[in-house]
Amino acid sequence: MTMLTTPKVPIQNQFAADVRAGLTRAGQKELPSKYLYDNLGSALFDAITLLPEYGLTRADERLLQRHARDIATHIPAKVMVSELGSGSGRKTRYILNALRVHGPLSYYPIEISSAALATCEAELCDIESVSIVGVESEYLSGLTEVAKRREADTHLFVLFLGSTIGNFDAGADAKFLREVRNILRPGDSLLLGTDLLKPIEKLIDAYDDPRGVTAAFNLNLLGRINRELGGEFDLRRFEHIARFNEATNSVEMHLRSKRVQTVNIKACDCSIDFTAGETIWTESSHKYAPESIEQLASASGFALKAQWTDDRWPFANSLFVAV
Ligand code: TRP
Repeated sequence: MTMLTTPKVPIQNQFAADVRAGLTRAGQKELPSKYLYDNLGSALFDAITLLPEYGLTRADERLLQRHARDIATHIPAKVMVSELGSGSGRKTRYILNALRVHGPLSYYPIEISSAALATCEAELCDIESVSIVGVESEYLSGLTEVAKRREADTHLFVLFLGSTIGNFDAGADAKFLREVRNILRPGDSLLLGTDLLKPIEKLIDAYDDPRGVTAAFNLNLLGRINRELGGEFDLRRFEHIARFNEATNSVEMHLRSKRVQTVNIKACDCSIDFTAGETIWTESSHKYAPESIEQLASASGFALKAQWTDDRWPFANSLFVAV
């Protein structure tokens, strides 16, 4: 795979600074969810997508499989495809296959996990007339690099699947999409996956599965702090919890301290006190009302051009066009 390199912030220092800031702040302790996706975290997330309780990825994939050709009819013939957080790349095959009928295509997956990028390339490298250029980077800096490489007559088609947009805080979703829009030109498109509201019990099962895979995924964040920052978390003294916040329509994931304890983290030069039952908030997953997606498009400089929804697991893939 060709690789595009982007200017790198020394990641370890940033990780230490973010962990320190999140765990020493007054009130609710928190850790940025992007750190869940180191190589082990990405592998555990891949396992989550196979769980019977986590219908989200299968719904997303069904939609892409069924409607890829229809989606492709809305995309200009001269196009480069980029994906924010490609993960294993499995779902993307349908889109690339539908688009390459217009001619040779380049595909730029943007990933913070080098292992996910390698899996993605192995998954998709057999597709004829598609060349893959991996970008190991955060979303916006990666997309900026990709946009620099486009020719004047070529459109960009950005994929942001799997409802990762729901992991931004309230209001930050539109703000992020606005930043994506600013990298694009009018007529460029974005395919956005959003998980829709559904009964609370289904949501809790999806985010707190009985096999404990989601728990392992969440706890791995503490394991990563131990591995990379000299943290001294005893993972057995924390537990994964998922709860639905009805005020924000979000599933909130936390790590709860089972007892009073103090944890040292060498690289952060700090020790953190926990009361029994105190939590670290690691991620929220917003569930969209179907009507809210059009507002999200217009709030961020796009028009909603088309939408496909799954009937078995409420989920929408929406095609936004930059205006
Ligand atoms: N984008 C995924 C989602 O919101 C991420 C996710 C799934 C996740 N399960 C999780 C994040 C558990 C933290 C904890 O559905």
